Amino acid sequence: MSVYQATVSAPVNIACIKYWGKRDTKLILPTNSSLSVTLDQDHLRSTTTSRADPGFDSDRLWLNGKEEIIAPGGRMATCIAEMKRLRREVEEKNSSEPKLSTFGVHISSRNNFPTAAGLASSASGFAALVSSLAALYALPANPSELSLIARQGSGSACRSLFGGYVAWQEGTAADGSDSLAIEIAPREHWPDMHALICVVSDDKKGTSSTSGMQRTVETSPLLQHRIKHVVPERMKTIQKAILERDFDTFARVTMQDSNQFHAVALDTDPPIFYMNDVSRSIIAIVTEYNRLAVANGGKLKAAYTYDAGPNAVIYAPKENIKEIVELIVSYFPQAEPFKDPFALFGTAGVGE
Ligand code: ADP
Ligand code: DP6
Ligand code: CO
Repeated sequence: MSVYQATVSAPVNIACIKYWGKRDTKLILPTNSSLSVTLDQDHLRSTTTSRADPGFDSDRLWLNGKEEIIAPGGRMATCIAEMKRLRREVEEKNSSEPKLSTFGVHISSRNNFPTAAGLASSASGFAALVSSLAALYALPANPSELSLIARQGSGSACRSLFGGYVAWQEGTAADGSDSLAIEIAPREHWPDMHALICVVSDDKKGTSSTSGMQRTVETSPLLQHRIKHVVPERMKTIQKAILERDFDTFARVTMQDSNQFHAVALDTDPPIFYMNDVSRSIIAIVTEYNRLAVANGGKLKAAYTYDAGPNAVIYAPKENIKEIVELIVSYFPQAEPFKDPFALFGTAGVGE
């Protein structure tokens, strides 16, 4: 008997222009467009195996070895149902195809980095889920089409279907059909760009991204200003900076947008604090490092950004990474850089 199984990994992406707010919570349509860099899969990734079998009477999911209930009508159920719908179309066109869409599917996924700690596990997680089901069902879908489905699992996941520099266009269609990810530039366009991940804490965050952003939409006046008057301009500026490999502009806009996202979290009622004292120290270290570079007639040398958690991601040209690691380690001597901090999109751990 045939075994129907596929294993696929997907990398995380870390936004430079942050997605924070939904205009439609069911379809996961955002209040603003966003833009991110997909990290190298050698470092932070989710790996998902999906298996279909006529003997499976229901769909089941294991996350990091522990079974999670698939809530009916929830995001996981929606993604699986959408993928089965695409499979059914294949089966209807070609009657000799096995009827995998009628089988239960068992899914097992693992993250090789902290889950729900502000390092975008929901992004790599749902991208890997959709990609593994696409492989299992041998679907012809392209990454932008798959991004429409991954988006319904977790908004940020739509951007992890592409490598390199990726925009999620907010779209205008009520059914979400134009709210998808597009590639701005492949990774090879700017190979000098590296990312350093500073793991300040691997604890699960107190407020999930989903509930945090919903509260922001309901209570923050600053969010309304951000989505109308700030993000559209920043999207244009950063896309141009990426296409021109202009690190100075990329860094300035990335840091401004991280700061505004955390200001919006603070403007939420009750307020949400995702950064901690160590996060703020890393901001001060990078700020001083950049100040000295500019004072000496140079340009910005590094850009910090923080998602919904305390962990820092520092984007910098490759030549600066060693210096930045040494600088951070000098302030946090107990920090242990990962074994390979200088590889493309390499990582370094910084302990609290
Ligand atoms: P993060 O900052 O890590 O993205 P979120 O609050 O956005 O945190 O989302 C965390 C949730 O994403 C988890 O509780 C889980 O439901 C889901 N998730 C994380 N990893 C995976 C995975 N590999 N496969 C499926 N779902 C995942
Ligand atoms: C701060 O995509 O995790 O990382 O759509 O509710 O699953 P849901 O939220 P999620 O939010 C990510 C928020 C962010 C910014 C970003 O990735 O753009
Ligand atoms: Co997330």
